Amino acid sequence: MSDTPEANATPISWTGGGDGFLTLLDQTRLPESVIYVNCQSVQDVWDAIQRLAVRGAPAIGIAAAYGVVLGVRDGAMLGAEPPARDPAAAREAALAACDHLATSRPTAVNLFWALDRMRGVVGELDDEVPPAQVGKRLLAEAKAIHEADRAQCAAIGRYGAELLGEFGSGAGILTHCNTGMLATGGDGTALAVIFALQKAGKNPKVYADETRPLLQGARLTAWELMQRGVDVTLVCDSMAAPLMRDQKAQAVIVGADRITARGDVANKIGTYGLAVLAQAHGVPFYVAAPTTTFDLSIESGADIPIEERAAEEVAEPFGRRTAPEGVAVWNPAFDVTPAELVAGIVTERGVISPVSEEAIRANVGAVPA
Ligand code: MRU
Repeated sequence: MSDTPEANATPISWTGGGDGFLTLLDQTRLPESVIYVNCQSVQDVWDAIQRLAVRGAPAIGIAAAYGVVLGVRDGAMLGAEPPARDPAAAREAALAACDHLATSRPTAVNLFWALDRMRGVVGELDDEVPPAQVGKRLLAEAKAIHEADRAQCAAIGRYGAELLGEFGSGAGILTHCNTGMLATGGDGTALAVIFALQKAGKNPKVYADETRPLLQGARLTAWELMQRGVDVTLVCDSMAAPLMRDQKAQAVIVGADRITARGDVANKIGTYGLAVLAQAHGVPFYVAAPTTTFDLSIESGADIPIEERAAEEVAEPFGRRTAPEGVAVWNPAFDVTPAELVAGIVTERGVISPVSEEAIRANVGAVPA
């Protein structure tokens, strides 16, 4: 535990072998404190995802993958046939962990993608594989998911910086929510683009939406960008219209939680409004996301499950009541931006622009739907 925020704080890490534990940087405590929480059980990971101690689509998937490893040990505590001795019970415990973790949050498809990868590993194991090896094999898969995301972030940064580099040095870029190292296994998605622009000497001038109601932009994005010396200005969500009218932002770039086959994009609530404003002002609206964020089984964004969160997040944010007791509250955590408003999607395989189903399928390729 530490009280001093550091730029190199590792948001997700695993200690030990198949019987080790997961450590998460508790994002609910930022920017005031850097507090780490150790997860020793599937339920610990489920809780961390649900209360947003770990958040951001790729990061949720990575944390859940490690959570499945913990599931094997959980099963050992629960079952009459301890998985420590019974290979079938070890596999069942891992699958039960997958099922439970899948109920933690509904919108980011990376969670379900990662859990399917873990289920795939379980499916390849048989009674020849001793229970101790089950945990080891699952841990290797979780680490592979984590490592692959790191590489995907780097590639997204490179492709995105080529794209946004065209706006020249010192260009204004508006972003929403948090899409950096806190939200991924690497440098981020939309923020990886910003970091790559910075590295290329383009000195982007970033406007970070505060991102009501949970302030991921103010608490996390502003913190990350300041730590890394990026020029960042914090704005309330409601300031985006005059910001664009005054030509302070030459482009908007955001992340995504789920992108459909036709290119509809679910992302943090407020994103759709930004896209509409961007179109009204002739500002290009881009999305950056790894191919693991695509759900090719869904055509329309209307079919994406949108998480609704507790009323207190709006009416009593951060423990202080700001609305009358008992007021009705609607608190969807995400919205869907139609493909027509998206100028381009940056993945680790290149830029999809213009956005069409054909171009998406060509880019995303063999990623499981
Ligand atoms: O509710 P959150 O904080 O998990 O929402 C996160 C977002 O909406 C991000 O923009 C998205 O997951 C992309 S993260 C690279």
